[in-house]
Amino acid sequence: MSGLLDGRVVIVTGAARGIGQAYAKALSEAGATVVAADILDCAQTLGLLGGRGLGVKVDITDMASCTAMAEATQKAHGRIDGIINNAAMFGPSAVTEGARMLPFDEITEDAWQRMMNINVTGTWHACKAVVPAMRAQGYGKIVNISSNTIQLGNPNLLHYVVSKGAVATMTRCLARELGPAGIRVNTLVPGFIQSQASLDIMRENHAEAITGAMKSICSLGREQYADDLVGTAVYLQSALSDFVSGQMISVDGGACFTGM
Ligand SMILES: NC(=O)c1ccc[n+]([C@@H]2O[C@H](COP(=O)([O-])OP(=O)(O)OC[C@H]3O[C@@H](n4cnc5c(N)ncnc54)[C@H](O)[C@@H]3O)[C@@H](O)[C@H]2O)c1
Repeated sequence: MSGLLDGRVVIVTGAARGIGQAYAKALSEAGATVVAADILDCAQTLGLLGGRGLGVKVDITDMASCTAMAEATQKAHGRIDGIINNAAMFGPSAVTEGARMLPFDEITEDAWQRMMNINVTGTWHACKAVVPAMRAQGYGKIVNISSNTIQLGNPNLLHYVVSKGAVATMTRCLARELGPAGIRVNTLVPGFIQSQASLDIMRENHAEAITGAMKSICSLGREQYADDLVGTAVYLQSALSDFVSGQMISVDGGACFTGM
């Protein structure tokens, strides 16, 4: 994939760890200048970017913080070609309890609101922040990260699954609104990834059984890892996908099939 993204500047939110870190590394290896943005420190990720990256502290629930992320990107690199909206309330961290598995009627009001605030409002904020630069360029690539839980309807994660459904819907609306400006908007739909975050969430919730069940519905018959996603992320940020917009691209080893 070397050279596919030469000259492009791409922001990855939620890049401090996990899958976001894998996207950042792969985009950089494909030639992009990557802006690694997270509410956590991105120093470790920057170390993987061959000295060409920029680390930005952002809280996507705060519009002003997202605007500052876009401004820092433009100040450092003069343009914004793409963004991967990967940040989410998923794994637990110092700043979020993560997506705790609970029956739908035991999820607290507070956890529900925080989930919507980070995953839905935060994604909207990040889009609003980068679109002015993309409009000015007449070109841009927005990749929103959903999950195949929206197709499977996984139990005990209602707030998370609903939020990821909203992200996929947001993609379709934005593809229509932003297409005339040359901005492509797509949803990347991972399956169940063996990330630290998912293992933390499942630890008390029959992790082995869940991993086994996900493996059994995967056409390719194995667990999925962050590196399985990065080729599609690079493709969606590259000129190879310039006539693709508004799509849900599943990368789950053939676990779920989208309808005709
Ligand atoms: N791991 C899986 O099985 C799986 C499956 C499908 C989709 N996904 C999605 O992939 C993405 C990455 O998942 P992961 O497994 O690496 O989880 P993760 O919890 O490790 O990554 C989420 C990142 O978002 C950051 N973040 C959280 N709140 C933020 C905020 N307000 N502002 C800025 N950054 C914030 C976190 O600090 C973290 O670095 C998420 O969108 C998740 O929903 C994961």
